[in-house]
Amino acid sequence: MSNHLLIIEDEVLLANEMDRRFRKSGWRVSIARDIASARHLLVERQLRPLVVLADMNLPDGNSLDLLEELHAQRAGIGEWILLTAFGGIPDSVRALRLGAHDFLEKPVDDTRLDLAMQRAARSARAHRRLSTESAAQAAQFGVDRFVGQSNLASDTRHMLSQIARADFSALVLRGETGSGKGLAARILHYNGARADGPLVEVNCAALPAELLESELFGHEAGAFTGAKGRREGLFERAHCGTLFLDEIGEMDLALQAKLLKAVEDRRVRRVGGNDEIQVDVQIIAATNRDLEKEVAAGRFRSDLYHRLSVFQVILPNLGDRREDIDELVTTFVGEFNQRTKRRIETVPDQVWRKLKAHHWPGNIRELRNVIERCVLLSTGTELEARWLQLPDTGEPTRRSTAPGGNAVSDDRISFPVDGSVSLDDMERRIIEAALQREHGNVTRAAGRLGISRQTMRYRIDKYGIKPDELLAAVS
Ligand SMILES: Nc1ncnc2c1ncn2[C@@H]1O[C@H](COP(=O)(O)OP(=O)(O)OP(=O)(O)O)[C@@H](O)[C@H]1O
Ligand SMILES: [Mg+2]
Repeated sequence: MSNHLLIIEDEVLLANEMDRRFRKSGWRVSIARDIASARHLLVERQLRPLVVLADMNLPDGNSLDLLEELHAQRAGIGEWILLTAFGGIPDSVRALRLGAHDFLEKPVDDTRLDLAMQRAARSARAHRRLSTESAAQAAQFGVDRFVGQSNLASDTRHMLSQIARADFSALVLRGETGSGKGLAARILHYNGARADGPLVEVNCAALPAELLESELFGHEAGAFTGAKGRREGLFERAHCGTLFLDEIGEMDLALQAKLLKAVEDRRVRRVGGNDEIQVDVQIIAATNRDLEKEVAAGRFRSDLYHRLSVFQVILPNLGDRREDIDELVTTFVGEFNQRTKRRIETVPDQVWRKLKAHHWPGNIRELRNVIERCVLLSTGTELEARWLQLPDTGEPTRRSTAPGGNAVSDDRISFPVDGSVSLDDMERRIIEAALQREHGNVTRAAGRLGISRQTMRYRIDKYGIKPDELLAAVS
């Protein structure tokens, strides 16, 4: 397969001569004398030559029609070199448009033919390598890579696979830090129609506006100080593929306008350039911000928002789907075992309890990092609790005597759901925490929990909570 040449030529003498030449230089050669037999080899027999050397005009038709037909089937068709006795300009234009590698006039000059063959083979090999790479990538980013058994996780998987198939033009991924936006973008790209095309990624928060503009659209030589040669932009590089704009919420307003124009016109113009370049690009934009709020606050253009959010996928926080911790931990332990050649086999109950009690503000990335550290530092076959280094959530709070506890931080509070804390106990502690944070003000604490003052009073009495004592406990 790696050195297979197909010659499509009806002139027997010429075909035989080329056959001999190329066999001598190491090619395996097949010959077809007309379009029908070439089609038979390529379509029915699924022959995958590296290079096809085809006469343009054959007794039963034109090679370009066959090439076009094969293109539609998206098969790996190799690089085509076309030969013609007539040198028809319209045909050569069509040949190039169909992605033919080269176009030679008969009688063919041997040196030119050799050169063209070498170039075509090199390009076909590179192409094949890329397409096996992208097949490997696609296998690596199956929808199942989004791990989790919760309803939230399986809904997300379902949505990702549906949308990937839809060949959308733009999409917004929203989720807090570490919730899997980058992973979702890869899943969408590698499971969609553009999987063979490039996935080009840029972080909009990482560059100042002018630099980001020239990254996105490219620039001509001398477009600005420091712009040495001309440079193609990320839009051009993502042609026929996906452009992943991470942290789009951070993009400067003026640049947002230019982005909108490019997305709508499907054309870009390099900075300092005159020509418009046509691009066929799918956009995935990710953000941890609520873009609707950003629009309301005048920080994000509403027209761009509407153009991008044709589809919107919201990635859930890990704190809202703690049942997924089991599968995620098992997955990550397996992954890091393999990478670091460790053999962690068990996760002790105490570790599970701590993992489940933590509220994971850094979401899956945080969990993954914790597991990586633990796998690396544990010495035996057990994941050691001491390397978790999570805020200690197993200890009771100052006032409570019950086992288990609440991790209090900012606006969150979390409990282990392993039966060590009763529902009543949780409720009592939630009320205490709200009161503590509002410095004993019952009305404000009720507001914080979204309940009426009466309900709050009732619960305070029910649990015998003394707001004043709570304050003494924190101060
Ligand atoms: N559901 C999941 N299953 C398995 N791994 C996941 C899942 N979600 C995220 N990950 C992994 O967690 C890490 C963080 O995810 P990712 O980088 O996609 O998050 P992000 O939302 O892009 O974060 P940020 O906003 O900080 O860029 C990655 O290693 C990713 O592979
Ligand atoms: Mg990311």
